[in-house]
Amino acid sequence: MTTFDQILPVVAEVLDAQRPQLMQVDWLVINRDLSGRVRFIAPEMVETDDARREPLQELYRLLAGRIHPHAYEAEAGVLYDADLATACADGASRLLQGFDHVWVVDRLATEGNWTQIAPETAGAPRVVFFSIKGGVGRSTALAACAWKLAQVGKRVLVLDLDMESPGLSSSLLPEGRQPMYGITDWLVEDLVDNADSVFDGMVATSDLSRDGQIYVVPAHGAEPGEYVLKLGRVWMPKVRNDGSRETWSVRLQRLLQLLEARMQPDVVLIDSRAGIDELASACVTDLGANLLLLFATEGSQTWSGYRILFDHWRRGGVAPQIRERLRNVAAMVPELDRIAYLEGLRERAYGVFADTLYDDIPPPDPDAISYERNKDGRAVWRVGEVVEGWNFDEADEGAPHYPWVVHWHRSFAGLRSLQGRLAVIDDGEVKSIFGPLIDGVRGILHD
Ligand SMILES: Nc1ncnc2c1ncn2[C@@H]1O[C@H](COP(=O)(O)OP(=O)(O)OP(=O)(O)O)[C@@H](O)[C@H]1O
Ligand SMILES: [Mg+2]
Repeated sequence: MTTFDQILPVVAEVLDAQRPQLMQVDWLVINRDLSGRVRFIAPEMVETDDARREPLQELYRLLAGRIHPHAYEAEAGVLYDADLATACADGASRLLQGFDHVWVVDRLATEGNWTQIAPETAGAPRVVFFSIKGGVGRSTALAACAWKLAQVGKRVLVLDLDMESPGLSSSLLPEGRQPMYGITDWLVEDLVDNADSVFDGMVATSDLSRDGQIYVVPAHGAEPGEYVLKLGRVWMPKVRNDGSRETWSVRLQRLLQLLEARMQPDVVLIDSRAGIDELASACVTDLGANLLLLFATEGSQTWSGYRILFDHWRRGGVAPQIRERLRNVAAMVPELDRIAYLEGLRERAYGVFADTLYDDIPPPDPDAISYERNKDGRAVWRVGEVVEGWNFDEADEGAPHYPWVVHWHRSFAGLRSLQGRLAVIDDGEVKSIFGPLIDGVRGILHD
């Protein structure tokens, strides 16, 4: 029996053997529905043209025999649509590898498909703090970054988008300073055109900053209220009177734009949910982030998770759209055997990045005459002949896999109040624990 992962290789093989027939249709969609069953969608005009319809149905019959049970009865296996855009609507689409007019469209039960990558925003830089595994010090590092950036006079907007396990805001705000509402309230009120009534009550300023300002937008307000029931609705698309539909992640982008217009921040720090989750997908791929921090520890679970995600980007053909914005962060690096630990982490990260996101060009040769980076960030190796591509040496500090380090420090372990800790922390401590990460984030700010 064919399993899900075998579908596309078999489709490609069957279609490859029938290329002349395939050329008879202007485009063809391989539609994988919610249950993972395949149908063809072809142009409407093929339906009324026996000479083209019958061979296409025969092709489907042939394929269905090979990918059973991921197919329909042959008679029900071919659908027709007016144009390609309609056939691809509401799904995650991409070209089938090796074909220039055959598209694969996946219908998913969740909206987050991780392959629609929004271009980088041109306004205040947006930095997303993401990790495959939870509990790696992501929110703490974000708070420390906000603290330092405010110390140097920056206006910092902080969003807690870890809505299913919120908490960042309480770590940046003392009790009594929490705003009345949070992001969840805005998303729910927006569904009934009532978002303006909560907008002014969802931002608080932190008292941790001396010169700049930290604006905190929490997941929920001081009184979470019916939080669980609101959370269950934030994912709803908004359907307007004219029937147009706005997905929840587009609504979230709208909120971010409104907040930026109001607060005029120099930088936006976004605490994402951990894991391959729908909310995380919105943070990582939909918000036009300029820098995506990937927190990681040395464990194999972390790296198998990143490999799955990066591989998904590679297969979807979107790696070039996102890879330049990624940066590995070595989270909570232990005190003992620090150097060996970091070497291990860097080596593991390099393996995963090189296999999935970096271009497949020969690795640097010990005899390379020179190595440089051209203006697009592409590496140019000169080894007798010139080889060009987007690749890095494992030891290249400018490479996305090369970790910015956050040290484990006993003063943060098992902390009862991060807000209390940050209220008494000094610059030297922040630098020694979070220094490389903060320097990295400062590096992308517009001055
Ligand atoms: N640099 C550090 N050194 C030691 N302990 C730390 C450090 N950073 C965070 N911690 C501690 O680790 C725990 C998890 O930290 P934090 O909540 O920041 O992680 P997280 O990745 O945001 O977790 P979650 O996935 O639950 O949101 C907390 O108890 C925190 O005090
Ligand atoms: Mg957190």
